[in-house]
Amino acid sequence: MSEQSPIFITGVGRRVGLHIARRLLAQGCPLIGHYRSETDDIASLRDAGAVLVQGELSTRDGVMSVLQQVLAQTDSLRAIIHNASSYTPTRRELDDDLFAQYQLFFGVHMVAPYVLNEGLQPLLLKSKDGNADIIHITDINVRRPNPEYDIYCSTKAGLENLSISFAKRYAPRIQVNTVQPGPVMFLDSHSEEDRKRVLSRTPLQIEGGAEAIYLAVRSLLDNHYTTGSSIVVDGGRSMAE
Ligand SMILES: NC(=O)c1ccc[n+]([C@@H]2O[C@H](COP(=O)([O-])OP(=O)(O)OC[C@H]3O[C@@H](n4cnc5c(N)ncnc54)[C@H](OP(=O)(O)O)[C@@H]3O)[C@@H](O)[C@H]2O)c1
Repeated sequence: MSEQSPIFITGVGRRVGLHIARRLLAQGCPLIGHYRSETDDIASLRDAGAVLVQGELSTRDGVMSVLQQVLAQTDSLRAIIHNASSYTPTRRELDDDLFAQYQLFFGVHMVAPYVLNEGLQPLLLKSKDGNADIIHITDINVRRPNPEYDIYCSTKAGLENLSISFAKRYAPRIQVNTVQPGPVMFLDSHSEEDRKRVLSRTPLQIEGGAEAIYLAVRSLLDNHYTTGSSIVVDGGRSMAE
């Protein structure tokens, strides 16, 4: 059995989550990764030694299944990193799809982290090196909401708020913090014009990349005296507007 307790991270199938998972594995850190869709990248993580658990995080049954799968894999955890997230503009019709969208965002951004934290807290308390962290990846838009994405922003803001409650409740044994990314990775759907507009309002003028988020996560894991706090990783974008 490994001398280290594993880190559990959600949403490792692509982009930021995949990058953080690869970086932690490369450092020899035992990893349990959650994914939703099976891809070649998931197979590559498995080949690199990650334990993978699959599931939908927006439903009660899905979250409970992910929780049970993690509990079946380990009796201690070094950290939980909540990275999984859904991102679409808010529907404007008051129809069934709007209710479904809000439920989905509420489920993935708030209920799933809440349930996983509560269900896995006993494992964090058994962390083999005595340190334990929960890191919620939110968004700079929790403080500067984008009205076109108000359901996304409000549920991420809810997670930011929950993070403070967990930090108070789980102290002194577990540190709980957030990372607030700005424009770290554009989507394929972002046009060249979109990218230029965003970067022109970002003082450091570049897309930050997934490594910038990994470095923030790493610094929280390495720091024994930070809780109830947030690291903004946005190239200065939130101070510029
Ligand atoms: N990229 C940025 O510039 C940026 C900016 C601000 C904040 N952030 C935050 O940083 C984190 C990573 O960003 P990203 O761009 O890498 O995100 P992403 O590309 O949207 O990936 C999100 C991950 O979450 C999983 N996921 C989504 N909905 C799910 C559900 N209902 N159940 C289970 N898993 C689900 C996805 O699984 P599938 O692969 O199966 O879809 C995917 O692996 C997110 O929390 C995001 O909100 C990113």
